[in-house]
Amino acid sequence: MTTPTAVRFSETDIERFAAHRGRIALIVDAEGRMDTAARRVNRLSKGALKRAVEARMEDSWQAGDILTLAYPAGMDAEAVDVLCLGRSADETAAREAGALLGKSRGKSDLLVAVGTLRGAAHLVQGAVLRDYAFRDHKTSGAAPAGTIEVMCKDPSELEAAAAPLLAVADGTFMTRDLVNEPANILTTTEFADRLAEMKELGLKVEVLEEAQLEELGMRTLLAVGQGSASPSKVVVMQWKGGEKDAAPLALIGKGVVFDTGGISLKPAAGMEDMTMDMGGAGTVAGVMRALALRKAKANVVGLVGLVENMPSGTAIRPGDVVRSMKGDTVEILNTDAEGRLVLCDVMWYTQERFEPAGMIDLATLTGAIIIGLGHENAGVFSNDDALCDAFLKAAKAESEGAWRMPLGKAYDDMLKSPIADMKNIGGRPGGSITAAQFLQRFVKDGTPWIHLDIAGVASLKSASKLAPKGATGWGVRALNRLVADMFETG
Ligand code: BES
Ligand code: MN
Ligand code: ZN
Repeated sequence: MTTPTAVRFSETDIERFAAHRGRIALIVDAEGRMDTAARRVNRLSKGALKRAVEARMEDSWQAGDILTLAYPAGMDAEAVDVLCLGRSADETAAREAGALLGKSRGKSDLLVAVGTLRGAAHLVQGAVLRDYAFRDHKTSGAAPAGTIEVMCKDPSELEAAAAPLLAVADGTFMTRDLVNEPANILTTTEFADRLAEMKELGLKVEVLEEAQLEELGMRTLLAVGQGSASPSKVVVMQWKGGEKDAAPLALIGKGVVFDTGGISLKPAAGMEDMTMDMGGAGTVAGVMRALALRKAKANVVGLVGLVENMPSGTAIRPGDVVRSMKGDTVEILNTDAEGRLVLCDVMWYTQERFEPAGMIDLATLTGAIIIGLGHENAGVFSNDDALCDAFLKAAKAESEGAWRMPLGKAYDDMLKSPIADMKNIGGRPGGSITAAQFLQRFVKDGTPWIHLDIAGVASLKSASKLAPKGATGWGVRALNRLVADMFETG
């Protein structure tokens, strides 16, 4: 497990700058104005800081820039990182500036002087989010050691402001660890065990096993997993921080721990990427963790369908007809369109059991969404403008790309089957939309619903602003914020 680097908060202590042996980070605004801490470092370095900033200003010195002085004279520090940021930086700018520090920290102890910076809590969150490395399988050592200390005017106030943001970073790390974990280790059983560990945080966690799923009639979910040696499971997580009888928000995740495509086998090249096909479930887990850690005053249930899609003598075949929990029958024409078969049963079960106030599913559902939106935005599909707009607003505030896509009867018609109630594929045109239409057939009238197709954003081949390459944890911040904006009392 990757634990976020611990952050300490303290009062600005000018004396300690000269003696600090790790990295020091300071903020200087776009006009070159320095705060007390920066002025002190400037004096210690005999004006080197001021000269370096002025030299940069002749070229370009704007919010988000960073300048590094290595082994500055007059100090013990190994480096001074100077961030360009206004005193009234917004949350996004502060988070991204912090990320630059998180990226450069390495193994060093980082001492950041933020003074009275308005976005300081977000700067701290950004530093922690970017300071992630998945090292569980490196025999050469554990995660880089080192600490982060933040010096400011009022440490207890900043610590309180940062606490919920650090809870969200912690949840994001859980998502990233799950998504990065290879499939031989993160089996359905291991996944369920890791979720069950969150009971410690006050979450109620139940694991439904195959016999129970059979009894509930979740035949389409079980069909996906029937070719695998790993048993299919549904895990139900409940956080009850809101009013006693308030209907919960439901989060549902696709947890295909590995997607070979099944009998409709995927090509070999790149198949290893399908270890991230549980990204939806990983995000749900991370959000639930964040909500529990920050003791959110909301009722939220998180359900994940954990299966492995393998080809074998017991696997489903193209052409099989299977009955869903809802009762509708599905002609499975392509066993690689398996995510929707998992989600439809979990969605139905969720509505029957919880009558949620809103239902949001997340899934690495289609390659087509990557063709449409690339790796910049998740596809957003919804039957409810108010919920959808609130989500898009939250995603924007967290700079998590999200773009609404259409739904409509003409797309739904593409799922007609000659022998069953529907088929599980709609053809190549609009592949992400027909996948969403399939899911919508399992949304009850009156349930506000959002489907998030995160195939393009859950894991990236190169580093992004807030994450190294690999799992991003996309959606944890946006969903946490949506809960805060729309479902939290008081
Ligand atoms: N898990 C894949 C979608 C995917 C592709 C996720 C690339 C992440 C990166 C999904 O189960 C799948 O195989 N979808 C098929 C659907 C098709 C058979 C209708 C696809 O997108 O090709
Ligand atoms: Mn598939
Ligand atoms: Zn899949």
